[in-house]
Amino acid sequence: MATKHIAVVPGDGIGKEVTAVGKKVLEKIAAKYGHTFTYEEALIGHVAIEATGDPLPADSLEIMRNSDAVLFGAVGHPKYDNDPSAKVRPEQGLLKMRKELGLYANLRPIKLFDELLDASSIKPEILRGADILFFRELTGDVYFGKRERIEDGEAAYDTMIYYKYEVERIARKAFEAAMTRGKKLMSVDKANVLESSRIWRETVLEVAKDYPEVELEHQFVDAAAMLLIKDPRRFDVVVTGNLFGDILTDEASQIAGSMGMLASASVGDGTGVYEPIHGSAHDITGKGLANPMASVLSAALLLDISFGMKQESLDVINAVDAVLKAGFRTRDIANADTPADKLLGTDTIGEEILNRL
Ligand code: NAD
Ligand code: IPM
Ligand code: MN
Repeated sequence: MATKHIAVVPGDGIGKEVTAVGKKVLEKIAAKYGHTFTYEEALIGHVAIEATGDPLPADSLEIMRNSDAVLFGAVGHPKYDNDPSAKVRPEQGLLKMRKELGLYANLRPIKLFDELLDASSIKPEILRGADILFFRELTGDVYFGKRERIEDGEAAYDTMIYYKYEVERIARKAFEAAMTRGKKLMSVDKANVLESSRIWRETVLEVAKDYPEVELEHQFVDAAAMLLIKDPRRFDVVVTGNLFGDILTDEASQIAGSMGMLASASVGDGTGVYEPIHGSAHDITGKGLANPMASVLSAALLLDISFGMKQESLDVINAVDAVLKAGFRTRDIANADTPADKLLGTDTIGEEILNRL
């Protein structure tokens, strides 16, 4: 029996809808195992800008720092997506949270539940058994490099920059994970063109000397993007930079069937943040259509990684699996054969998950 304090940070759009389900799952687990979980909500993104003018107010950050883990939803609003001139933006809150909490490693497991073999646009015989763990570097790269408008606003640049220490620490985490899995690691870069990728590759090769048992493979990001779809089972652990990791994991969500299935853990120096990889999904916000499984599976990662509660975490994953086995689907993972009575919304599929915990 443990006592833990959790910051709940739903953010915007479907972030609110799916995080509510993720939180209920944590409550149910606490009740089942006799743990005491306390919760504190904090604002981030568009809702924080509306309330305070700041996408990550100081007290939100304080709440996160003082918690044992953070369950985060998503940020974003169409108002900013369609206004490139906006100076204050929801996404700044997310990037600041990652930087301030030192969350340099973003673990994105791509795990295909067997029941969803037909939810993907990739052929089942290519997909069956795919199981990938991405280590996306999260506090460096072009996301945090110097940027500027120049030439009277006629041009702009963003700097893609990597320090060796940044590459080294994420590479070590990936090698450590590879040791516990299939002892295979793919490092993805663009070292045939970019100097920051050459420092990436050079550093990964140095770290590799400490892990002689791990079979290390390098791929250029363009080829890696192709191979993911051609032969997803050839991937095991992957380590890559912030931008390449962002793009490749959205692509890889199609291996798991949908963006609505992909959870992630952002870890590093302090409190861990657990977040779906998807965004605020304006196109389905407020319709009750969002798949909450990415948030629920993020809660499972939270239990495992931040609290060391392996069995509790497994219970959550098994509950999701059981709901899928029972044939329940949200729209994003349904197909023409899904019977109408099995097609559920965010809250109703959430209830089915809770019933199986
Ligand atoms: P998105 O991930 O929000 O949506 C992409 C597509 O996937 C949409 O069609 C959406 O309906 C679908 N989708 C996403 N999550 C789903 C779920 N749980 N269930 C069912 N369908 C789901 O990406 P986008 O449309 O490019 O961006 C929308 C906004 O979200 C933007 O403002 C962007 O900046 C922001 N964003 C935030 C995060 C984050 O907070 N981590 C991540 C990505 C995008
Ligand atoms: C993600 C998102 C964010 C990113 C955006 C919203 C800043 O796409 O969490 O994957 O690019 O990291
Ligand atoms: Mn993304």
